[in-house]
Amino acid sequence: MTEPASDTLPFGAEHAFLTDLAGVAALREAVALGLIDLLADGPVAPAALAARLDLPERGLRLLLAMLSDAGVTGEGGLTGAFAAIWQVRRGVLCAKLDFLHRAALDVGEDLHGLLFDLRRFQTQARSFAFFRSDRAMEVSEAALAATKPWVDYVTALSLTETRHVLPAIDLGGARRLLEIGGNTGVLAEALLERDPGLTATVLDLPAVCALGRQRMAGQPAEQRLHFVGSDARRQPWPAPVEAVLFKSVLHDWPEAEARRFLTNAAACLPPGGRIIICERVPMEEVHPPFPLWMLANLVFAPFYRAPSFYAGILSGLGLVPEPVEQVDLDLKFAVLTAVKPV
Ligand SMILES: C[S@@+](CC[C@H](N)C(=O)[O-])C[C@H]1O[C@@H](n2cnc3c(N)ncnc32)[C@H](O)[C@@H]1O
Repeated sequence: MTEPASDTLPFGAEHAFLTDLAGVAALREAVALGLIDLLADGPVAPAALAARLDLPERGLRLLLAMLSDAGVTGEGGLTGAFAAIWQVRRGVLCAKLDFLHRAALDVGEDLHGLLFDLRRFQTQARSFAFFRSDRAMEVSEAALAATKPWVDYVTALSLTETRHVLPAIDLGGARRLLEIGGNTGVLAEALLERDPGLTATVLDLPAVCALGRQRMAGQPAEQRLHFVGSDARRQPWPAPVEAVLFKSVLHDWPEAEARRFLTNAAACLPPGGRIIICERVPMEEVHPPFPLWMLANLVFAPFYRAPSFYAGILSGLGLVPEPVEQVDLDLKFAVLTAVKPV
C-alpha cells in the first residue's frame, strides 16, 4: 500500500483515467484479469493476449478498445501517462477503482435517496456497507480481515492527501499530539517526520490500530507513534497533549457526538493548546465538477459541514478560532485551528 517515495505525480493524476463509467469498468476488469500487469511489461498483440489470458479474442478486443478510449492503452501497450500511474500509484488507483464501483452503483440506483431520503440511501448503499467499523472493535483474525479492505482505501486516500494538507497544519510547537480517528497513522507519521521532537498518539478502533502498527513496523517514526485501540466515544482520552487533530472524522458523526468529541479534545489541552480540524467543505457551496471520480465524494456530500459550524462549537468551548486555511484537493478542504487561551 505504501506508495514509493519517488511519487512526484500531481495530486489526483489517476483521476484522468476515472472520468467515465465505461473507462472505469474497463480498467477495473483489466486490473482483475491481470491484463494491465501483462501490458506493463511491453506491448502484446490482442491474439497473444487472448491466448495468455485464456479468453475469447472478440471480448478482449472490445475491452482493449474501451481501454484505449479511456487513455489507458495505445499502440499495443500502456500509454506513458497510465504507465506512470501504474508504477507509482497502483495501490491508490486500485483502491479508488473498487470504491468508485460501489459509489457509482449507489448513485445510479438511488440519487433521490442520497439527496432527499438519506436514511433510505444509507441503509441500502454499498458505499456505506464497505466501512464495517462494527467489525473493527476487536483484534482477531476475522476482525482484521473484515477491516483491512476499507482501511486500505482510507490509507490510500491519506497517502495522496497528506503532503498537500501538511503545510496547512500548524501544531504551534506542540510536543504531544493526539489524533482522533487517525486510521493507520499516515498523517501523524508525516507530522512526526516534519518535527523530530514530536510524539503522537492515534486513537482509532482496535483492528484499525493493529493494521496501523503493522504499517508502521520498521518505519523511522515507529517509536514516536503510539496507537490506542479504543472507541473515541469512551473516556478518558490519552492526555496530556498540546494538540488534538481530527481529519475527515467529525463529518462521520451527528452534531451531538461531534460536540462531545470537541469538548473532550478541549478538556485534554493546557492553555495555549490547540484543536485542528481538516474537513472537506459542502459540495453545494463550492460547485465542483462531477466526473465519475467525484462520485466517491458525492456519496458523503450530505455529511460535509461548513468550517463555521465547527468554529461555532469551538468558540462556545472558549477556544479562539484562527482564520480558516483552504487546501485544494479533489474537493476543497478547510483546515480550522482553534487555540485555548492562556
Ligand atoms: C473517514 S476515516 C478518516 C481517517 C483519517 N483521519 C484520514 O483522514 O485519512 C474515519 C476514521 O475514524 C475511525 N473511527 C470510526 N469510528 C470510530 C470510533 N468510534 N472511535 C475511534 N475511531 C473511529 C475510523 O476507523 C477511521 O479511521
